[in-house]
Amino acid sequence: MKLFSGNSNRLLAEEIAQHLNVRLASADVDRFRDGEISVRINESVRGIDVFIVQSTHAPADNLLELLLMIDAAKRASARRVTAVIPYFGYARQDRKDQPRVPISAKLVANLITAAGADRVLTMDLHAAQIQGFFDIPLDHLYSSPIFVDFFKKLNLSDLVIVSPDVGSIKMARAFAKKMGAGLALVDKRRPKPDVAAVETIIGEVEGKNVLIRDDIVSTGGTLVEAAVALKRNGAEQIYAACTHPVLTAGAVEQLNRSPIEKVAVLNTMPVQKTDNDKLTIISAASLFAEAIRRIHLEKSVSFLFS
Ligand code: R5P
Repeated sequence: MKLFSGNSNRLLAEEIAQHLNVRLASADVDRFRDGEISVRINESVRGIDVFIVQSTHAPADNLLELLLMIDAAKRASARRVTAVIPYFGYARQDRKDQPRVPISAKLVANLITAAGADRVLTMDLHAAQIQGFFDIPLDHLYSSPIFVDFFKKLNLSDLVIVSPDVGSIKMARAFAKKMGAGLALVDKRRPKPDVAAVETIIGEVEGKNVLIRDDIVSTGGTLVEAAVALKRNGAEQIYAACTHPVLTAGAVEQLNRSPIEKVAVLNTMPVQKTDNDKLTIISAASLFAEAIRRIHLEKSVSFLFS
């Protein structure tokens, strides 16, 4: 097997390579002078099981790098190409819920398939049904075991897991079960894109420590609004676990000013962290490495879900 990386998340790719005890294979993923992406794989991949690590968050160049790398590997006669997409971007428009909107997640799935990927490995898709947008095998990892491990060590008593919107309820329920904690739900509305407003909290949080479980933290609005409402409803300490740290400009500062004690995120995409902020970054590298090893050896991946 050979492991390649685009430019979106090279640090994670290097960490995965270390866990697998391999070196990152050599490829130039650069720009022509006019800004177009140029890709060249520098070693033979004929008959090889190729894994390309690349998250597809904005800018769209990240997605295009992945597509071009897949194409290069296929045309160089790789035996199998697996797109390893720690954060699958363009997932938020996943259905036609208004007139004249795209189903971006389906289009991106089509592009990855058309480029020649044989399979996909990803984590905590924004909506699990996006798996069905692919007509090639897709392994969907869950980050929950990583967060369960982390938060169990904090020994938080009287804990309630909070889903910050109906979209995250299944993930929060499964998490609550694993943590042996209660469950509550925030009734979140989006008056306009990127703005979150909380109406009510469904469930008992008074006098409890709470942990908000979400897949993405972007502007931070969802977490902050939820935390303020939870405090209003008598919650004690508030924590958050979000898989993908999209973190747009100003989000970290907003989280720092909020009543949240700690926000744990994974390194599925690059994160800037300072000593004083509330972010804790946990690596997903060993989980991805083990999944890659199992895919390569044709072993079960579902073992990793528990
Ligand atoms: C929404 O459905 C997602 O699960 C997240 O709650 C959302 O993407 C977070 O966005 P923001 O941090 O901008 O509120």
